[in-house]
Amino acid sequence: MKKIIVAVDGYSSCGKSTIAKSLANYAGYTYIDTGAMYRAAALYAIQEGLMNAETIHEQALREKIGNIHIDFRRRTAGEGQDTFLNGENVESIIRTLEVANAASRISTLAFVREELVRQQQEMGRDKGIVMDGRDIGTVVFPQAELKLFLTASPEIRAQRRFDELQQKGVEEDFQSVLNNVIERDYRDTHREQSPLKQADDAILLDNSQLTIEQQNELVRKLFEEKTVS
Ligand code: DC
Repeated sequence: MKKIIVAVDGYSSCGKSTIAKSLANYAGYTYIDTGAMYRAAALYAIQEGLMNAETIHEQALREKIGNIHIDFRRRTAGEGQDTFLNGENVESIIRTLEVANAASRISTLAFVREELVRQQQEMGRDKGIVMDGRDIGTVVFPQAELKLFLTASPEIRAQRRFDELQQKGVEEDFQSVLNNVIERDYRDTHREQSPLKQADDAILLDNSQLTIEQQNELVRKLFEEKTVS
């Protein structure tokens, strides 16, 4: 069966990583979480004193950008994988709100995107990958054989996030979660560098009314169509 590249793009909190991981597992492909790469780059900048809550020292970061090496390693115990920054496991720390906010800011810089896109293209050189992000089907792999663009209504995504927060015992009112979803959509789609945009040849998947099982079934069918021929 021929190996392909699967690009999964879409809005925040619409289940990109759930779909991408599940498909990678099914296909025996490598899953690459490019959001984790922007988060790891932001962590590097924070640790090196190159950014804080107010400023980014762009010139100094530009000079050190080649020192950022990111890779993903399978967990030896249990399922899943961890993100490594220069040989160190940073999986938990990159999931904090502080790093998420820093990643959102650092991802607007062209030279940061250039370096990470270069690393992503290198990771996909031999195909057999499922990569998720915002610009995979448009910038990183415009030649990807299967492109999915995920969306769900802002209200549904806010409700999912609200439920998650409640499960973790975090008190937040629904309206502010919804406002945050709408704000992030705006930032993702309006930034100057590689804004989130559906590629012309991407398949739009609105999962507002789909269960994870229905979604997986659909995606596996699309994958089979692309690989069997
Ligand atoms: O998907 P995420 O929340 O882990 O992404 C972290 C940040 O990186 C988010 O602000 C969007 C940005 N990002 C990006 O600009 N391009 C990508 N390919 C992936 C993520």
